[in-house]
Amino acid sequence: MDKKWIKDARIINEGHTFEGSVLIAGDRIEAVYEGTVPEGVDTSSYEVYDARGKWLIPGCIDDQVHFREPGLTHKADIASESRAAVAGGVTSFMDMPNTKPQTTTLEALEWKFQRAAETSRANYSFFFGGTNDNLEEIKHLDPTRVPGLKLFLGSSTGNMLVDRKESLEHIFGECGLLIAVHAEKEEIIRRNIERFTKEYGEDLDISFHSRIRSEEACYASSSEAVELATRLGARLHLLHLSTARETNLLDNTLPLQEKKITGEVCVHHLWFHDGDYARLGNRIKWNPAIKQLADREALRKAVNDNRIDIVATDHAPHLLSEKEGSCLKAASGGPLIQHSLPLMLEMARSGIFTYEKVVEKMAHAPATLFRIDRRGYIRPGYFADLVLIDPQRTWTVAPENILSKCGWSPFEGCTFHHAVDTTFVNGEIAYRDGQVNDQLRGRELRFGN
Ligand code: DOR
Repeated sequence: MDKKWIKDARIINEGHTFEGSVLIAGDRIEAVYEGTVPEGVDTSSYEVYDARGKWLIPGCIDDQVHFREPGLTHKADIASESRAAVAGGVTSFMDMPNTKPQTTTLEALEWKFQRAAETSRANYSFFFGGTNDNLEEIKHLDPTRVPGLKLFLGSSTGNMLVDRKESLEHIFGECGLLIAVHAEKEEIIRRNIERFTKEYGEDLDISFHSRIRSEEACYASSSEAVELATRLGARLHLLHLSTARETNLLDNTLPLQEKKITGEVCVHHLWFHDGDYARLGNRIKWNPAIKQLADREALRKAVNDNRIDIVATDHAPHLLSEKEGSCLKAASGGPLIQHSLPLMLEMARSGIFTYEKVVEKMAHAPATLFRIDRRGYIRPGYFADLVLIDPQRTWTVAPENILSKCGWSPFEGCTFHHAVDTTFVNGEIAYRDGQVNDQLRGRELRFGN
């Protein structure tokens, strides 16, 4: 069996930071030692990775990505974006259903599993898309294979709006799966578009985006989802929260294992605010929109006080050419997965989060929330999904070091003070010294433990 010894790393895991070593045997973590490996442990057959001066964390798990395959592969595909993932220290991802065809049938879901088995460099799973009329199909899903159901309660890329009241009641009451929602109230968005176009014409610039997809639109939809889930006993996960007000819908008195309603924030909502639109324009156009500085501050606070449970990306590549034009026309979304961990570490460096909190929200909590089988922690017996970080390597995001197929990033020109040095996926090197291991394939995630 292939054996590896990650020696003398600074290990950040489960709220503790200590110097130590990790032994890997095959695809699993065999042992974790604080300090030196005890005498009597025979390490002669282990390949040594000298990790002095480096940090070791569990691989990040991103529960919200759009890898665009099938059907939209001119901008991204599972191979290209999983390469960007492992280069960014993300070892597992859960992909969203707004592809072409949409992942709203068992057949489409099976196609994605097969494609990922052939091409993904990271571990993978796929959300199933709920529609106004596919409850029967939903009932046939294997809950150990999917993280849950994705519902678009506001329309976004891909036109997957679920808006029929009785469909929602049935889904929330009967599906038995975790329900992850994109919550923006369609009627409010439409009303705002009408109002602003009447007053200012069709050619609205990006500064209108957060006024159209407003706080009111987010809160109305999120609170409605919370009401439905509470009344009908569903497990609800609020994706990509973007407003201060929505953080009040979340609780921090229960441990994550016991929460039935959980929340997520994405890195762009923790980093940008509406003052950045003038500089970055449509490059930072997302749904939900980037809101005000006060919203960003409240989201950061809710991460720190555990009302928000996980940090993800909503990695959603589009070509720059698709992001041109007025705010009504330009595509929403952008590539993030390669930079989410360095960005969060940058925020930790400036004291916004602790490093332990970053690891908790990007690795431990997604594993716990989705009940992923043996991942997300550095523990003996768990899969060896690990990331070595070089805290001394400063680098600047530029087109030549971007791996996403679309070839641009909202962080171009940003300098990060931590770099992903090596990424291990199931005990194998997936990325090292700037090179992705294109021979390696990730595995399907399993749920329910
Ligand atoms: O900005 C976004 N882009 N938000 C979403 O919810 C979807 C995503 C996409 O698929 O482009």
